Amino acid sequence: MEMIVAKNYEELSQISAQMIAEFIQKKQDAVLGLATGSTPVGMYKKLIGYHNKEGLDFSKIITFNLDEYVGISPNHPQSYHKFMKETFFSHINISTSNIHIPRGDQPQIEKQCESYEQAIKDAGGIDIQVLGIGSNGHIGFNEPGSSPEEKTRVVQLTESTIQANARFFGDEALVPRLAISMGIKTILESSKKIILLASGEEKANAVQGMIEGEISTQLPASLLQLHKNVIVIADQPAAKNLKMINKSLNSVYV
Ligand code: F6R
Repeated sequence: MEMIVAKNYEELSQISAQMIAEFIQKKQDAVLGLATGSTPVGMYKKLIGYHNKEGLDFSKIITFNLDEYVGISPNHPQSYHKFMKETFFSHINISTSNIHIPRGDQPQIEKQCESYEQAIKDAGGIDIQVLGIGSNGHIGFNEPGSSPEEKTRVVQLTESTIQANARFFGDEALVPRLAISMGIKTILESSKKIILLASGEEKANAVQGMIEGEISTQLPASLLQLHKNVIVIADQPAAKNLKMINKSLNSVYV
């Protein structure tokens, strides 16, 4: 894994956006795997800036989002469809037909999960997969205990994830208990490169375990140690528990 410790959230957002922008400039039809949540919002804002100020072209870009809640429609204010549209897609020139986000409101979810896997394969896999990390070490909605053999499927959210996401719904009772998520296997096998973003002290234990701990399904992010091309970009609070690295360095390899 490569590890970059950013001075702060602003720098984390800048570094990640720049990596993606440079990739898109080289490969105009790049396939991006995208995450929701608070952490990548700054990166999306910077990418919108590259589009507006420097004409970064998203017209041929294909995207696959990691996850969506089950039981809410794309128009629900807290759906990941809505989040992606408002935070990113409506501000760039991406073609709607190139956007893929699981639908949590449709029957035959299992069939849909299979089609999602197939669509990723048909696109030639994911060039860059952006991930956040839960304070319990989840990636996507692959909660502790998830098997590295699992693909896109319906998952049960843990209590800690429900509590963490209650801030978006206003009330914990309103947070859906189920979601569709790309599996660890999907992430590990389809992604050519993974950029994981971690910001804030509440991620410090998960970040330390992911990088310096043993590979364990109890901390799903640690399974990323099995992938050959992972860059973790953490701000200083999120990196504060790392033992092996000299935090005064900006970029280190572990
Ligand atoms: C979101 C996702 C989740 C988040 C994680 C961190 O699509 O897959 O794994 O990345 O829960 O969320 P934030 O960034 O809100 O702390």
